[in-house]
This record gives sequence, structure tokens and C-alpha cells, in this order.
Amino acid sequence: MKTFQTVAELQNHLDQLKSQGKSIGFVPTMGALHSGHISLVKACQRYCDITVVSIFVNPTQFNNSHDLETYPRIPKEDAELLAQNGVDVLFLPSEQEIYPKDLETVVNLDLGNLETVMEGEFRPGHFQGVMQVVKRLLDIVRPDQLFMGQKDFQQFTIIHFMIEKLQLPVKLRVVKTKREEDGLAMSSRNRRLTPENRKIAPEIYKCLKYAKRNLKQKSIHELENYCIERLRKKGFEPEYFTIFDGNTLMPITTPNDAYIAAATAAWAGDVRLIDNMILKSPRGLNLFV
Ligand code: PAF
Repeated sequence: MKTFQTVAELQNHLDQLKSQGKSIGFVPTMGALHSGHISLVKACQRYCDITVVSIFVNPTQFNNSHDLETYPRIPKEDAELLAQNGVDVLFLPSEQEIYPKDLETVVNLDLGNLETVMEGEFRPGHFQGVMQVVKRLLDIVRPDQLFMGQKDFQQFTIIHFMIEKLQLPVKLRVVKTKREEDGLAMSSRNRRLTPENRKIAPEIYKCLKYAKRNLKQKSIHELENYCIERLRKKGFEPEYFTIFDGNTLMPITTPNDAYIAAATAAWAGDVRLIDNMILKSPRGLNLFV
């Protein structure tokens, strides 16, 4: 595995590979890697000749300085894991490389409701930061394909929207959420859970499955309230449990839409967990791998 810290060196290397006709797949990450990230790497390897992974803890997407400071940083372990899993190129840029003083990196794109609902309501500015860094990384790496996880539903939906609106020459592939055996969605934040909170954490998955099973039997309102209460009783402080249209991310009141998903965010102690599940998917939805 080759590791680069500067844009110039990375691009020089990738230009050589591109001139040999190799296709480039890209997995952007913030490090603290786990099997969920490795499933993105494996998907990338299935579709592309070269797998490029970036690790950059992007300050512009954190609206809480405590979260930014405590975000786990283990670059040595991460690099070992990536090398063991056959990654070709690791990009480990500094903040200056990503956001040079003389470069305008803010993306001028109105996300409308996509960034105000769910995560957007509780993390103002977060998705502008995500869009800014992903656009900058795409401009640097210029991959053929981009791989993101389903776990961040709103994130991949917004990046898909950006790719379409700006007509970026990259194909987005979304990789299904990887779960622990008890159903807890893998996340870098899981390692901060206390043993007690780790025990209750799978309740989130159980609630999502309940919503899926009962989509036709119960009203949307009943399902949302039931799941919020169930999480609260178990010891979480839920922020939202929403059933929404998968394209617009707007809450729905009846299960008539063709593409329906449920998403939740809940605090387990001082760790904020998110998860989602597709409850109904339209024919021909070919984002997922
Ligand atoms: O999902 C993440 O880890 C981050 O939001 C991403 C896509 C790497 C952008 O910083």
C-alpha cells in the first residue's frame, strides 16, 4: 500500500495508474476504521482496479467541538488494517492540503429540506461540511466510483444529490450497513459505549425491524411514537425516530410512497448513535451494492 500526504504526490501516482487504463474507486473515511469500512473497501475492490482510501477528520462537519476533539484518531492501526485488506493507496492529508487558504472550497448548492430534517435539525451546518469535504476529495482523487455506507442515509442521499446537480463524473455506490451479531450498526463511536450502554444498543435495530414489520398494520405516527418510547424505556435519550420518503427525506404520514425508510438518532450516555432501515424500496433502485 502506498501512502501519500500531499495532493501533488497522490495525483502524480494516480495519473500514472489512470494512464495505464486502471479504474479508480474511492472510499472517503474519517479513520477509526472497523469492519463496516472494510466492507466498503471490499465492494470497491469488486468494482474497480485500484482502491484509494482517505482518512481525514473533517473539522467543517463537526458542529460540536467536544465531538471533534474526542473523535477517535488511530492512524497507525488504521493503516495496518487497510494494508492487510489489500488497499492500494492511502491518502492522509493535513487540514492545509484539504483547505488551502487561497482556495474556495465551499460548495454553492442549496440542499433545501435535505439538510434541515433529521440529522440536519440536530447538527446545523453538518451536511454543508460533508458536501464541502467530499467535493474537495472528489476533485483531488477524480475517481470513477465513490463508495459510501448506507448507515449515513442522509449523507449518501445528499452526496447523490450533489453528484447529480453538479453533474460530477463519478458513480456513487452505497454499501449496506454492516452490523454486529446482535444487530448494532458498526460505527467508530461504538468503542466509546460503556458496557451497560453497549448491552442496550441493539434495541435500535430491533425498533427499526419492528417498524418494517408493522408498516402496513400500524399508522406511521403510532410506529414512530412506539419506537421513541421503547428506546426511552430501554435507557436511551432518542432525538428522533422518523419514517420518511427515501428521495426527499420528508416525513410521511401514510405508507403510500414507493421508497420509504426509517432513521433514528439516540444518545446512549454521551454517545450519539444513528441507524436506519429501508422499509420499502422501489423497483430499479440501483444505488446499493
Ligand atoms: O462518513 C464519514 O466518515 C464522513 O462524513 C466522510 C464521508 C468521510 C466525510 O468526511
